Amino acid sequence: MHSQLLFRKADKKDIEKIIHIERLCFDVDAFNKRQFLYLLSHNYFYVAELKNEILAYIILLDSKRAKSLRLYSIAVHPHARGMQIGQHLLDHAFKLAKSLHKEGMHLEVRDTNLSAIQFYKKNGFSFSGSKPAYYADGATATIMRVCFE
Ligand SMILES: CC(C)(COP(=O)(O)OP(=O)(O)OC[C@H]1O[C@@H](n2cnc3c(N)ncnc32)[C@H](O)[C@@H]1OP(=O)(O)O)[C@@H](O)C(=O)NCCC(=O)NCCS
Repeated sequence: MHSQLLFRKADKKDIEKIIHIERLCFDVDAFNKRQFLYLLSHNYFYVAELKNEILAYIILLDSKRAKSLRLYSIAVHPHARGMQIGQHLLDHAFKLAKSLHKEGMHLEVRDTNLSAIQFYKKNGFSFSGSKPAYYADGATATIMRVCFE
């Protein structure tokens, strides 16, 4: 991974660049501007930036009583994949979850998204169920969880 990669909180001024990445990464599931603005003001929302270029984002949802932090979305610009940027964001998410005294993390992933599933498996997540018709096009979500030691 590039040593100059900066991990920081997302800001309102980043939204257009984040939407650009979103549209390159997701189809019917892509968040729109209104959704991103809401997520920005209510959640843990970070970007990875290299030389003033936003290359990726991650959003984590915390529910105070939940023992697990939810990874709500992660996306790396297609041109920046395979460079450990997703890994860097997920490492930060693990640190955040531990600092919030969570027992683990969970997420939903489209069951056909094999590269993301591999990425999560590499990071200790395993299957814990499925949600039929979770996505707008009727596709199934696989639920994955990791528990900290
Ligand atoms: C999934 C995603 C976030 C991974 O980010 P990335 O920066 O490309 O991944 P990294 O370079 O950090 O890879 C870390 C590890 O994950 C695994 N991995 C990542 N991409 C992979 C792929 N396409 N196929 C198989 N394994 C993969 C590898 O084990 C890799 O470790 P290695 O390079 O030592 O082998 C990225 O591919 C992405 O944005 N995809 C589109 C959006 C998406 O599907 N988000 C998830 C929605 S639930």
